[in-house]
Formats: sequence, C-alpha cells, structure tokens
Amino acid sequence: MEIIIRPDPAATSEMAARIVARLVRDDRRAVLGLATGKTPLRLYAELARMHRDEDLDFSRVTTFNLDEYVGLPPEHPSSYHSFMTEHLFRHINIGPARVHVPDGMADDIPACCSRYERYIRESEGIDLQILGIGRQGHIGFNEPSSSLASRTRIKTLTETTRSDSVEEFGGVEHVPRHVITMGIGTIMDSGMCLLLAFGKEKATAVAQTVEGPVSAMVPASALQMHEHCTVLVDEEAASELRLADYYRHVFKQKPEWQRP
Ligand code: GLP
Repeated sequence: MEIIIRPDPAATSEMAARIVARLVRDDRRAVLGLATGKTPLRLYAELARMHRDEDLDFSRVTTFNLDEYVGLPPEHPSSYHSFMTEHLFRHINIGPARVHVPDGMADDIPACCSRYERYIRESEGIDLQILGIGRQGHIGFNEPSSSLASRTRIKTLTETTRSDSVEEFGGVEHVPRHVITMGIGTIMDSGMCLLLAFGKEKATAVAQTVEGPVSAMVPASALQMHEHCTVLVDEEAASELRLADYYRHVFKQKPEWQRP
C-alpha cells in the first residue's frame, strides 16, 4: 500500500483530485468508482472546479457508485443518487447514460445486483475506485463480517452506521436498515483504489486497515491485498499509524515525477 499523509483535508483532497484528473486526461474513457459521504466532498468540488477552469472533460467518462439505500427513489433528497447529482454530476459534463448508481427501488434486488456487476464488466472494469471509510472499517456499505470475496448485494446496516447517518435523514428512525453495495470482491477488481480519510474519528479504522491483520472484521483491510492501493489521509486520521514517520519519509524521497 502507498500511504500518503497530508496536513489537512484540503491538501489531501487536492492531491486526490490531481490523481483522478490525471487518469481522466490520460484516458478520456476512464471508468471511475465513486463514493458518497462527507469525505469526498472537497474532492468533488475540486473536480468540478477543474472542469470549469481547466477544461477537464468528463464527456466520455463512465461512473459506478458504490452503494445506495434500499427503498429510496433516486429523487429522494437523502438518496445517494441525489447526493451525486448535487455534489458532482450537475457540475461536470457527464452524460446521464454513463452514470450508474444501484437502484434502491428494484423489485428484484438480486437481479439488480447481478446486472450492476454485468454493467461493470461490460465497461471493462473500474479503473479507479474512490473510497471513504466507516468508523468500523467498512468500505462501501460492507459492514464488519462481510465476505472479503463478496459481490454487489443487499446488506443490513449496523446501528453504528445508521447513527452516523442521522444528520442526512433528520432522525435515526428515518435511516434505512438495508442497502445495496458493491462487494469487497467487486472493489478489489478495480485497477486502482484510492482511500481517503480525515479526522480523529477515522484514526483507529485507518490504523487497523493499514497495519492490522487482514480481517473481515475490518473490511477495508482487504485492500492490503490490492496491487495498487493508495491511502490518502490527513494528520488526524494518521494519528494512530505506528509507522507514520516511515510513510512521511517514503513520500519525501519520491522523485518529482512519481508524486501525485
Ligand atoms: C457511508 C458510505 C461510505 C462512506 C462512509 C463514511 O457508509 N456508504 O461509502 O465511506 O459512509 O462517510 P463519511 O465520509 O461521511 O465519514
């Protein structure tokens, strides 16, 4: 794993945006895996700015979102469909046909999940998967004990995750109990993973992900087995990493051409 520690969320997000933008410039048909939550907000704002000010062209980019709540129609203000439209899609030149978010209203959820996997395969796979992390080490909505080989499927949220979403729903009683999420196996098939984390409340999950054993109890730890995974964190999220000084040293030694 490549672990990069930046001073704050702004510097971290700018670096993440440079990594995404480089891919989109090199390969205009890039396939991006997208995450929701507070963590990627600055990254999306920076990509929107690059589109506006630097002509970053998304017209041939395809996207797949990690997850969606079961029972929420796309136009529901708390759906991940709405989140993505609000924070990214309406600010860039991406066509609606190239955007994919799991359908939380599907009658046949297993069929909808297999279709999602098929669409990813037909797009020749995700080139770069952006990830946040839950306080218990989940990625997407793969809660602790998720199979590390799992594919897109329905999952039941833990109460910790539900309580973390109270703000978006205005009361824990309104937070859905079920979600559709790409599996860990689906995420691991991506060409590159870029995991972002900010703040003290993510420090334990980050340390377990990077330096703990690979375990279904910390689903993000599966990324240790990924060939090309960059973990991009701010100082607070890095505060429990035992080898933080080593990671800083590695980054400092990188030749200019290798730096994101
Ligand atoms: C939800 C999302 C994840 C996200 C996580 C952390 O569980 N499904 O993709 O990484 O929340 O959210 P935040 O970035 O708001 O801390």
